[in-house]
Amino acid sequence: MTDFYPIRVSEVHKETKDCTSITFDIPKELQETFLYKQGQHLTIKASINGEDIRRSYSLCSSPLENKWQVAVKRINGGVFSNYANNVLKAGDVLELMPPLGSFFVETNPSVTKNYVVFAAGSGITPILSIIKTHLASEPNSTFKLFYLNRNVKSIIFKEEIEALRNMYFGRLEIFYFLTKEQRDIPLLNGRFTSEKIQELIAKILNVSTIDECFVCGPEEMIFIIRDELVNAGLSKEKVHYELFFSGVTEEDKKKAAQAVEHKFEGTEVTIIDGGKEFHFAMDDDYDNILDGALAAGADLPFACKGGVCSTCKCKVIEGTVEMKINYALEEDEVAKGLVLSCQAVPTTEKVVVDFDV
Ligand SMILES: Cc1cc2nc3c(=O)[nH]c(=O)nc-3n(C[C@H](O)[C@H](O)[C@H](O)COP(=O)(O)OP(=O)(O)OC[C@H]3O[C@@H](n4cnc5c(N)ncnc54)[C@H](O)[C@@H]3O)c2cc1C
Ligand code: FES
Repeated sequence: MTDFYPIRVSEVHKETKDCTSITFDIPKELQETFLYKQGQHLTIKASINGEDIRRSYSLCSSPLENKWQVAVKRINGGVFSNYANNVLKAGDVLELMPPLGSFFVETNPSVTKNYVVFAAGSGITPILSIIKTHLASEPNSTFKLFYLNRNVKSIIFKEEIEALRNMYFGRLEIFYFLTKEQRDIPLLNGRFTSEKIQELIAKILNVSTIDECFVCGPEEMIFIIRDELVNAGLSKEKVHYELFFSGVTEEDKKKAAQAVEHKFEGTEVTIIDGGKEFHFAMDDDYDNILDGALAAGADLPFACKGGVCSTCKCKVIEGTVEMKINYALEEDEVAKGLVLSCQAVPTTEKVVVDFDV
């Protein structure tokens, strides 16, 4: 069942010229439903110019603040991000799905961990939540933040991040990288390339002391950072990443086409959702379970339909499916049978999937 709740916007604030934060007024009776972990995201539904729009936004607030805040960076031609930056105001009501996502590790007050976090632009949102939450709940843990922006003016949450550095003196180190402004230290100019990450590893990052690494930014940046850290000896499981958007690569297009070739025609699908069963036969017009189910009248959770947000995830109970692309689920989740229904092409005569996971 798609549980969207109408929620009032309590504050809209311009963080930079192109980024607006939105704070939600979650009523007392819904606060338990909307409990979240640092690094999770909300799915927002809005009707803009008659079109039903769904988008995911990471919470930049910390669960410890009893606050629900996101920040939306304007994208040229972007439907929701322009609406949020130019039209939305306090008092407006948006439809929200409770928080989701697995871009976090549990906090533990008795651990001493060294966290290394990388963010580019609006990728700071989940990273800020993670920093605030772990610093507050783990008194011995430390953070190194590597944060890429165009210029100083475009640094989102600069003041808040610097206040955290003062508040948790000696436990948060910040390294700003700028692409459109030159500074005296060449290492801090320009984007994260393989060479730059190797230099960071040689000069600033002692890989053997990193306990967890979180990365949020464009796809290319994520994989460069992950690969360089793994090459330097960090185990892959310690690198967590969140992708906001993916331009599908040629290789992924090929993989997707192969999955569609393996489609079984007319699969009998059973959806388990909210403890209830919904049965339908896959129509020839659709290649994935989500679209097939929506067309047959099911009400299921989804947002990006692009294999990025994981809102549509479910577990395969019977039969098999092949995912076209997957930018959202980790290897261990796939090993447990989880799939993105928006990417899941049924490959057997009968498939049963469970959304109550
Ligand atoms: C888990 C998750 C968390 C997210 N958290 C945040 C967040 O905290 N803050 C935030 O600002 N955004 C976040 N996003 C991205 C957000 O969901 C939207 O994709 C983004 O705001 C663009 O929506 P739009 O309606 O303005 O653009 P659309 O109308 O969807 O797209 C307009 C054009 O921009 C391209 N495009 C779409 N998204 C991006 C992008 N992110 N980067 C580059 N090009 C793009 C599209 O291909 C299209 O050509 C998150 C996404 C995910 C999956
Ligand atoms: S709807 Fe976003 S991954 Fe399927």
